Amino acid sequence: MNVDAWNISIRNLNGGYGGRVVLEDLTAELPAGAITTLLGESGCGKTTLLRLLLGLNTPLSGQIFIGGHDICRMPPAQFHKMRRRFGVLFQDGALISSLTLEEDVALPLMEHTRLPRKVLQEAAQRTLELVGLERFANFYPGELSGGMRKRAGLARAIVTEPPVLFCDEPTSGLDPITAAQMDQLLLDMHACYPQMTTLVVTHDLGSMARIAEHVLVLHAGKTAFSGTKEELSQTRDPYLLRFLDRQFEESRRMAAPPLNNAVRSALEEWLND
Ligand SMILES: Nc1ncnc2c1ncn2[C@@H]1O[C@H](COP(=O)(O)OP(=O)(O)OP(=O)(O)O)[C@@H](O)[C@H]1O
Ligand SMILES: [Mg+2]
Repeated sequence: MNVDAWNISIRNLNGGYGGRVVLEDLTAELPAGAITTLLGESGCGKTTLLRLLLGLNTPLSGQIFIGGHDICRMPPAQFHKMRRRFGVLFQDGALISSLTLEEDVALPLMEHTRLPRKVLQEAAQRTLELVGLERFANFYPGELSGGMRKRAGLARAIVTEPPVLFCDEPTSGLDPITAAQMDQLLLDMHACYPQMTTLVVTHDLGSMARIAEHVLVLHAGKTAFSGTKEELSQTRDPYLLRFLDRQFEESRRMAAPPLNNAVRSALEEWLND
């Protein structure tokens, strides 16, 4: 199997749950070796698309080509093999609570190879270094912060140096500084592995602006935009303009003080009573 950079090509994809169609005739290209961010309103089907790409959901119809292979029509055993080449960072890192970081990061190698323990440890340690967690190799997930868990999840996703990396909301739930650090980590990681075709689901326009080479916006089950972030910034499409503006408005609202002055001074009175 060719392990050069893989492009992902989604053609006329229909996907949903039971009788309900979520993605309708979706067509999109994710360039090989680039970071693509996947944006769209809540409930538009971003996670559903990720699940289809990972083979966790079966499409109603359409095709998904990864590195030229139609994953929807592969025999299950062949897809299972292909799936080993996908790294996945789940939203909460999905670490195993009974394993130390080093054991957790080494897990994909341990499952699929017969390498001696020492070699596995070294590989895990090297990957933990890449995400800045080398000093925490013997810590358990419960002893880490949310941002550290996400970084550890990223280490586990890339320890096999997969040609394809999927990240679901890597910055959600993080403060703006930690989120920016996570974005920088994704960029550093991508500089280390320029062949890795990476899809990042995000709500965060700041993240998109920092990390994306290619942007995909979903709306009403279809591709509302596919192109570079520079092209997105020049769009005149009314839906996209509203979407971008609304997202910016949301970040402005989040930045505003949550209490008005009357509530604030009443609280102060009570606290000082
Ligand atoms: N397991 C499921 N069974 C039935 N319907 C589902 C399931 N998962 C998602 N859906 C529906 O599919 C639609 C798309 O959901 P999805 O989780 O893909 O959205 P999303 O774009 O990832 O949203 P968010 O940004 O909030 O994570 C929603 O209307 C949701 O109700
Ligand atoms: Mg989602």
